[in-house]
Amino acid sequence: MAAIVIDGKAEAAALRAEVAVDVAAFRERHRRVPGLVGIQVGDDPASELYQAGKARAAEEAGMISRRIVLPIETTQAELDAVIDELNADDAIDGMLVQLPVPDQLSEVLIANRIDPLKDVDGFAPVNLGRLVRGEPGSVPCTPAGVMWVLDRAGVPLEGATAVVVGRSLIVGKPMALLLIARSATVTVAHSRTKDLPALCRTADILVAAVGRPEMIRGDWIKPGAAVVDVGINRTDAGLRGDVATAEAAEVAGWITPVPGGVGPMTIAYLLKNTLDAARRRAGDDITTGDE
Ligand code: GUN
Repeated sequence: MAAIVIDGKAEAAALRAEVAVDVAAFRERHRRVPGLVGIQVGDDPASELYQAGKARAAEEAGMISRRIVLPIETTQAELDAVIDELNADDAIDGMLVQLPVPDQLSEVLIANRIDPLKDVDGFAPVNLGRLVRGEPGSVPCTPAGVMWVLDRAGVPLEGATAVVVGRSLIVGKPMALLLIARSATVTVAHSRTKDLPALCRTADILVAAVGRPEMIRGDWIKPGAAVVDVGINRTDAGLRGDVATAEAAEVAGWITPVPGGVGPMTIAYLLKNTLDAARRRAGDDITTGDE
């Protein structure tokens, strides 16, 4: 059996087109467009690439997009001052600080500083709390994008056994919460998990977010499973996911490739979160359907 390969680029294009239509409607209603700011500290080439991609995508969706690049030695107080200014700026609906940040900066303090209404990453304690409680709020972009592709592919979630490999705040933890909210039975695996291959073989839905190139092998996959590869690993052989894709595709029912799978969805979802943030700030009555 050969897996259906999920086309993340096409899925992202569909979501971005939807957002662009809704941005135009927002503009009609409120006589302004949503505004997004990406903040980057230092000049890491990967961060540079992500930020440029996000800014371009926001503009293409009809939003205002700004990039702020701060020197690598920026202090927490200096970054706080930038965040405070954006919190107070009515034209700005969403901001994110590209992670990872240099050691002198704290991801915790950053997440606590950003106005939760403008937290389009969904990393603020209030938004993560809402996710736990099942209340509407900003949901982290990558796991939200994974839910989008699973739904569009018609993968059954209710009662399914899901294994999420990785427990990060950006992907693993919110991914588990989103799957639980859709009545999947979820296990979160990590570096201390015993017999990971055997656990993975129980998964109807397997989400890999560990950052280790091709760690998950073909014989770890349950026949017919949906395999979602969130890994983006730069290796000498090129960009690789966390899954040995060719092997896994022999066994799986669905699989997301790297590149061209989940990656493009993250940016598309950031745009959706920015639009939703603008709607909430403008007092529109919205339910995102994610919660
Ligand atoms: N670095 C890698 N992924 C992300 C993300 O989703 N948001 C932010 N802010 N930084 C990241």
